[in-house]
Amino acid sequence: MIGNSPTVPSLHSVYQDYFKIGAAVNSVTIDSQKSLLAKHFNSITAENEMKFELLHPTEHQYTFERADEIAAFAKQNGMKMRGHTLVWHNQTPDWVFTNEAGAPASRELLLQRMEHHITTVMERYKEQIYSWDVVNEAISDDASEFLRPSKWLDIIGEDFIAKAFEVAHKVDPNVSLFYNDYNESHPEKREKIYRLVKSLVEKEIPIHGVGLQAHWNLSRPTLEEIRAAIERYASLGLQIQITEMDVSVYDWEDRRTDLTQPTEEMKERQEQLYEQIFQLFREYRDVISSVTFWGVADDYTWLDDFPVRGRKNWPFVFNEQHHAKGSFWKIVNFNQK
Ligand code: GLA
Repeated sequence: MIGNSPTVPSLHSVYQDYFKIGAAVNSVTIDSQKSLLAKHFNSITAENEMKFELLHPTEHQYTFERADEIAAFAKQNGMKMRGHTLVWHNQTPDWVFTNEAGAPASRELLLQRMEHHITTVMERYKEQIYSWDVVNEAISDDASEFLRPSKWLDIIGEDFIAKAFEVAHKVDPNVSLFYNDYNESHPEKREKIYRLVKSLVEKEIPIHGVGLQAHWNLSRPTLEEIRAAIERYASLGLQIQITEMDVSVYDWEDRRTDLTQPTEEMKERQEQLYEQIFQLFREYRDVISSVTFWGVADDYTWLDDFPVRGRKNWPFVFNEQHHAKGSFWKIVNFNQK
């Protein structure tokens, strides 16, 4: 059944007593998926348009057009926004880390630039954004390493994280500030994220939440791992947001390329998982303040190119024709309270 048909309930309305329901959008999908967006989501995140390289390509130039369009779309549709993302090792232009002579920027210069960027961007979208991803993906995936090597870390040192939160809080003391990362439910990485966030909380750095990116698949993480991650982060007294959820039909190691549609087995497993995961989210409604999918419907997902270029994936609860999938019905049909 087409997702905007009157007999399909609005996802965010079903969840109004639980948490916001969000989707990542881009300049194309605010048009191509607009009726699904308007009906089912009350929060959006710009997939790329608020990242450093798109907003601030050269030192004295901010390019807000595409982000402004997305913010206007949110306003027209009465939606709130998540801000993504202020400080990240990726999609950040080289000029940020280089001085006029072409040598590495000094700590002072980089801190100044960080402050300028955070201030300008946050001021612009102040009324609309309820939470910002202040620092994205600072933890290493390598078991022998704590923080991920990056130019932020090299030049500023470990306190680049604390500094970013302090600046963001100064700009807008009312917005909630998040640390956001992936593989957040894998026990080893979970413990490193916990250690980082705990150290910020202990130093009274203004951090309000942990973002679980939730790029998951049909076998990992397990429900028990997700539950343990939510419990662990929430034990620090912080909010949780699910920030980039998708459920790939392929396991990480699975590089097959022969499918033109998901197998029956994949569909069934995906439905079962969506049902269980949302049941778990509902259980933790007191700590989870929003759940954002990293897209809207299966006609567009970044997973079509990752990790296997050009391979179609079907990670969402709406299909390529914007119809509600079995997974959709599994997450809306539950006994409310
Ligand atoms: C990470 C980032 C997102 C996005 C995805 C891939 O999770 O946080 O901004 O780039 O990778 O789409």
